[in-house]
Amino acid sequence: MTARSSETLNRLRSMGLDAASCNRCAVRESDYVFLAVKPYQFPAVARDIREEIAGKVVVSVMAAISTRVLHEALPGAEIHRAMPNLNIRIRESLTGLYSPPGSKHAEEVRRMLSCFGEVYEVSEELMDAWTAVAGSGPAIVAEFLDAFFLASLAVGLPRSTARSLVTKLLETTARYLSEHSDLHPAELRDEVTTPAGTTIAAIGILEGRGFKSAVIEAVRAATKRAGEIEREIEKKLLG
Ligand SMILES: NC(=O)c1ccc[n+]([C@@H]2O[C@H](COP(=O)([O-])OP(=O)(O)OC[C@H]3O[C@@H](n4cnc5c(N)ncnc54)[C@H](OP(=O)(O)O)[C@@H]3O)[C@@H](O)[C@H]2O)c1
Repeated sequence: MTARSSETLNRLRSMGLDAASCNRCAVRESDYVFLAVKPYQFPAVARDIREEIAGKVVVSVMAAISTRVLHEALPGAEIHRAMPNLNIRIRESLTGLYSPPGSKHAEEVRRMLSCFGEVYEVSEELMDAWTAVAGSGPAIVAEFLDAFFLASLAVGLPRSTARSLVTKLLETTARYLSEHSDLHPAELRDEVTTPAGTTIAAIGILEGRGFKSAVIEAVRAATKRAGEIEREIEKKLLG
């Protein structure tokens, strides 16, 4: 692995990783190169490694940098794009992977990324949507959990119980739906919706406040923003 600051290099070494600051040397000695710097840091890294990159397999996890830009900056490399999410920290990433058609290395790239969670094949056109749903998803879910946590306090549940209750509720409901993959979320809702009962009272409010359309609009806005950022970066890098 490479990094610039001694702080990061020491941290990586303390985790038992082989860490150095020379990008060019690391690329020279590798067949597979993972690019995981912030998008605005990419031009400097590309300048460092450009001369050594031909024939290497490059996996970019950078948001908003298209394969067009990557090909232009890294001539002769085979480019793959991966979009992991925050849950990579617990090895439960939901990673979208675009590999070039017919690549002999696609399976190996998928195998490596599978060490950190599930890998889904995604066409490059859907990368912005993937970034919005899987990338921003943990934040959207955290917003919902925060709201539900506050709601639990509002109706008098103790703070310690409320936090674990809402988190477990999300976890177990998601697991139930995963284990019953033929069950649509709307069917699950119907199962617990008694006429004139408590659930329909809650759903009436959510519908009235536009809960679903807010979620749809939020994900649309994130997808649109991913595309805008990509075009801004492309303009900066390619002129
Ligand atoms: N975080 C996420 O959940 C997530 C999800 C999907 C995709 N991504 C993408 O992953 C990329 C990294 O995000 P991050 O949040 O992990 O960023 P980060 O914490 O800032 O990490 C970037 C790393 O790149 C190193 N670096 C920067 N410039 C370098 C250079 N010239 N040569 C060698 N190493 C260099 C930095 O080392 P120093 O500390 O020494 O500067 C740092 O270790 C971004 O492009 C982001 O879009 C992130």
